[in-house]
Parts: sequence; C-alpha cells; structure tokens
Amino acid sequence: MRVAVIGLGYVGLVTAGGLAEWGHDVLGIEVDPGRLETLRAGRLPIHEPGLDGLIARHIAGNRIHFASDAHLVSSAQVVIIAVGTHDGNGGWQTDTIRRCLGDIVPMLADDVVLVIRSTLPPEFVPTLAGFIDGVRAAADRSPIPVVINPEFTREGNAIQDFLFPERVVIGVVRDDVGAGVRSMRNLYRAVDAPILTLPAADAVLAKLGSNLFLATKISFANELAALCDAFDADVSSVVDAMGRDKRIGPAFLRSGVGFGGSCLPHQVTMTIRSAEQRAIDVPLLRAVDQINHDQRSSFVDRLERGLGGSLKGRRIALLGLTFKPGTDDLRDAPALTIALSLVTRGATVFAYDPMPSARTAARRILPAITVTDDVWSALSNADAIGLVTEWPEFIDLDWSEVRRVVRGDTLVDGRNVLDPATIDAAGFNYTGFGRQVGTTRAPSRTVAQKLQSVAVGSIASSNGFG
Ligand code: UGA
Repeated sequence: MRVAVIGLGYVGLVTAGGLAEWGHDVLGIEVDPGRLETLRAGRLPIHEPGLDGLIARHIAGNRIHFASDAHLVSSAQVVIIAVGTHDGNGGWQTDTIRRCLGDIVPMLADDVVLVIRSTLPPEFVPTLAGFIDGVRAAADRSPIPVVINPEFTREGNAIQDFLFPERVVIGVVRDDVGAGVRSMRNLYRAVDAPILTLPAADAVLAKLGSNLFLATKISFANELAALCDAFDADVSSVVDAMGRDKRIGPAFLRSGVGFGGSCLPHQVTMTIRSAEQRAIDVPLLRAVDQINHDQRSSFVDRLERGLGGSLKGRRIALLGLTFKPGTDDLRDAPALTIALSLVTRGATVFAYDPMPSARTAARRILPAITVTDDVWSALSNADAIGLVTEWPEFIDLDWSEVRRVVRGDTLVDGRNVLDPATIDAAGFNYTGFGRQVGTTRAPSRTVAQKLQSVAVGSIASSNGFG
C-alpha cells in the first residue's frame, strides 16, 4: 500500500521503518528542515537500536522516501499522523495536531484512510470527526474514513514491538462504509495478532490504560519494597514468587528510582489533569504519581544517610543518565532530578552514561554537574556511588576494583540490579530498595541477567547515532 507518515519523531520513524519492512511504500513527511536533512543524509535524529539499519535498507530499496512537501500525500492510500501531543509540562496540547490536520486533510484523496497514531487526550476524541469533516467541507471535499491506531512500542525495543505486536487496536472515529477498517486490516496483514476494532474513545483509553497500569505496577512494587525494608524481606524474592502467578505476572514489578521517559510520567499526570477537569477523583493515579516522585528523593536520602547525614562537600558518582538502558533519551529521566537534588543539598556530582549523545545533552541541561567520558573518571575518589540506570556496563563492573578507586563505601543501587552479596564482599555498604544484604537470592540474579541480555541485544544492534 502507499502510506504517508506525517511527523518523523520517535513514533513516526518506527512506524515508517516497520511498514516498509512489511513491503509497503512509505513516504515520510517532516516539516523541520534540519531533521529532514539528517534523514536524507542517512542518519536518524533519534537513537533506537536497529532502526538506522532498517531505514537505510529501505531507502536504498526505494521503499522509503522523505519529503517536506505535504502535497505529496494526495496519492497515499493510508495517511498516518504521528505528531506530538505533550505540552512539555505534564499536560496535553492539541495545537500541533489540529494545525497538521488543517493542512493535510484538504489534500487527501477521497478513498484514503486517515489514521491518528499520536497519543490523544480522551477529551479531544469527541471533537475529532466534526473537526475533520469541517476541514473537508471547507475545502469542498467529501468526508473520509478516520481511525485511531495507538502505538504500544517501548523505546529500545520498538522495532520488535512494532513488527510483532501482541494486539493491534483500531479505534473508529468515522468509517461509514467500513472502508477504513478494511484498509487497516490490509495494512496490518503481516501481523499474527488480534486486530481489535473498537469505538474511538475505547481505543484511546486502551492506550492510556495500558501505560497507567504499567505505571501502577511500578509504584506498587516500590511500595512493596518499602514494606520489605520494614520487615527485613527481599523484594526480588517476593516479586519472583508473586510473578509466577499468571494473574500477576513478573513484568514491571522492579522497584528502585521509579519510572521516567516521555510516556509513563506524562500520561499519569495528564490523565490526572483530564480527570480533575471533569471533577472525577483519581486517588489511585495520584498515589502512583506521588510514590514515583518520592522514589527519586528517597534515593537521594539513602545516599545522604550512607554518608552520615550530610551531602555537603561530598563527591557522588552517578551511574547512568538516560531514563532506561538502550536509549539516549533523557526526557523525565530520574537521574536528572536526582542530580539536581544532590547539587542543591551541597554535593558535587560526577556522572557517566555509556551513551555519548546522552552525555552531550546532559552537559547542556545540567551545567552544575560534571559529565565524564568514562566510568572510572566518575568513580575516582567518590565518597558514594548512586546507580540510576541499569546499563550492563555497570552491572559488569569489577566491583573490587571500583572499591579501590573510590574514597567512601556507600553504594545505592537505584535499580536493584547488583548482587548485594557481591557488592558487600567488595567492601561496600550496599543499599537497594527493599533488598537485604546477606540474603542474596537466586531470583534477583535472574532479573539482572534478563535485563543484561535485553540491553546487550539493544546495544549490539545500534550505531550510536542520537
Ligand atoms: C512505555 C510503554 O511501556 C510502551 O508500551 C508504550 O508504547 C510507550 O510507553 C508509549 O506510550 O509510547 P517506554 O516509555 O519506552 O514505553 O518505557 P518503559 O519500558 O515502559 O519504561 C518506563 C520507565 O519505567 C523506565 O524509566 C523504566 O526504568 C521504568 N521501570 C520499568 C521500572 O522502574 N520498573 C519496572 O519494573 C519496569
């Protein structure tokens, strides 16, 4: 099929690459000249493992083209909108998508299907059909089918998630004769997963609900970790035992500094705001948000306690800056809040992240800290170590050697990925979240190994462009 993707950010580029892989002809439209130039030069403006190779292959095979001229969409059979809907401040904004629809919709062919892939505020959905019909009518064009097709891809694993989804959700905004849904089924014909056709509002809530539930699981795990600390239990063993119950499952129950990134934190706060505007109380989501914020300060408190109650004048080695391994994304990364808080409490911070583009961005965002180009420079003479992102490089460190180069013995593991017994044996005073030294259990090792294999796979297939 001839598909146009409007907006070549994270979601748009993954969608373009995945659709080309399935044999569709993809035209990517990007209005930002700098971004377009980068793409045409064969580079990606974002880091996603394997995506650069995928896109380069399909550019070479003439299956993907990039352009800025929106008029070119007039010959597309499917037009996918993937522009941003965050306001950058924990809220929604629909100005970009309205402007984009206002520009694009008049040019579309009558037999097109218009697909919204951007994550949408639920309150925007009831206005969508009327808005698009209005734009068509003003241009003297007939109405077109419109569907919402939310994405469920994770950064760092996006290509796999796109090509092998667990479900495809199609939310029907307007599809008078069913041509829109038929085209979508054709677009996804390579997929071996249920294709769920839902009313538009249900599709939007299914997308939001998935992320809200994942966020809830993480905050639950963090509350559970506090109980484990209080009752001298090890959260890794507790979660391992719980997760074997299929009704619970082991995923997204790892405690630590909490969730970051451009999706989970924003979608929790945005949903709280949307609910408040409709006078709906959402105490669970408020608690999820609060617990998540508290984890970041609790991490700083743990470092402070380890250093005898004051961070003033102490040198902290911060390991990891990105919101998770396998990405260079610093959006709402716990490390940034933590670094700022450490500096505010009088510490000097030396931070390191294996991703070069993340280091460059962190230097710009956080001039008050020193970002080093190798892990040993960050560790050298540190009074305490704080691990914030579970990059395999950190898990694999020779911790006895690390102990020799640092000044102090405090180590706070903000992702519960190090083996407390190994760290203890290396001469450190280990603090995790809900983990007890001297009670190493096999399951915690299993979690670390799984993380390691995922992240190593991601890194192996990346080229470091950010
Ligand atoms: C998330 C969802 O997982 C995707 O399904 C969704 O498509 C995407 O948002 C989106 O809406 O676009 P992503 O933001 O890439 O994906 O990151 P996640 O893998 O969900 O991780 C989010 C945060 O939770 C990270 O900071 C991670 O370290 C943290 N996390 C994850 C935990 O603290 N504990 C866990 O057990 C798992």
